[in-house]
Amino acid sequence: MTPTQKLEDYSQEQHDTWNFLYDRQKAHLQGKASQLYLDTLAEMSDTLTRTSIPMVADMASQLKKATGWSIEIVPGLIPPSEFFKLLSQKKFCTSTWVRRKDQVDYIEEPDMFHDTFGHIPPLMNADFGSFMHRFGQIGTALSNNGRAFQVTQLQRLYWFFVEFGFIREAGKAKLFGAGIMSSYGETTHAWESRNTSKVFNLAEVMSTPFQTDVIQNEYYILDSIPELERELNHWFERTI
Ligand SMILES: [Fe+2]
Repeated sequence: MTPTQKLEDYSQEQHDTWNFLYDRQKAHLQGKASQLYLDTLAEMSDTLTRTSIPMVADMASQLKKATGWSIEIVPGLIPPSEFFKLLSQKKFCTSTWVRRKDQVDYIEEPDMFHDTFGHIPPLMNADFGSFMHRFGQIGTALSNNGRAFQVTQLQRLYWFFVEFGFIREAGKAKLFGAGIMSSYGETTHAWESRNTSKVFNLAEVMSTPFQTDVIQNEYYILDSIPELERELNHWFERTI
């Protein structure tokens, strides 16, 4: 059964926690986050609401109209093959549970604040949407062919770009990845690391293992999303 989301399932305390997370993080990101992210967050302000937990159907309908992407509700983490398949159909997935008040600084598993505030806004950007779609198609092809090592390489790319990447804008390194956007501590830490972050290199990223349960100590700065999509295509052609 597909999970659903109902406004009445949330308590006022959960809405207040959401509002606290949203306001604190938006203020913290000013001057640090990429303009791409800040602009798309602002574009989504009618549906990715600030004072109450957003309704997935409203965000999905705005996104669909603007970009063709939609949003699927999932109970939590899903296997990589399912995740790739959704992306290949231009569907991003989100959970609908919101962390407790005592978890505002850290949660082990991604909640709805991470999945939506972190991941959804940049999908409004055509270059990022195109990259994610292609990423999903390539991931689907590789997992259907049992290419476990190449799937791991893709997961590393996702980690170091989509979750914890910087992008360069007007010559400056700016925060971009959803793992940074949705975390106060990661924002502070990543911003302090901006001068020691490396230039994004696909081969290097794909051979760098990552750990999900510690604060990041390696960040990469990407110069161009369309260029990354081209490089990913070349890698895929050489891989198959
Ligand atoms: Fe994520």
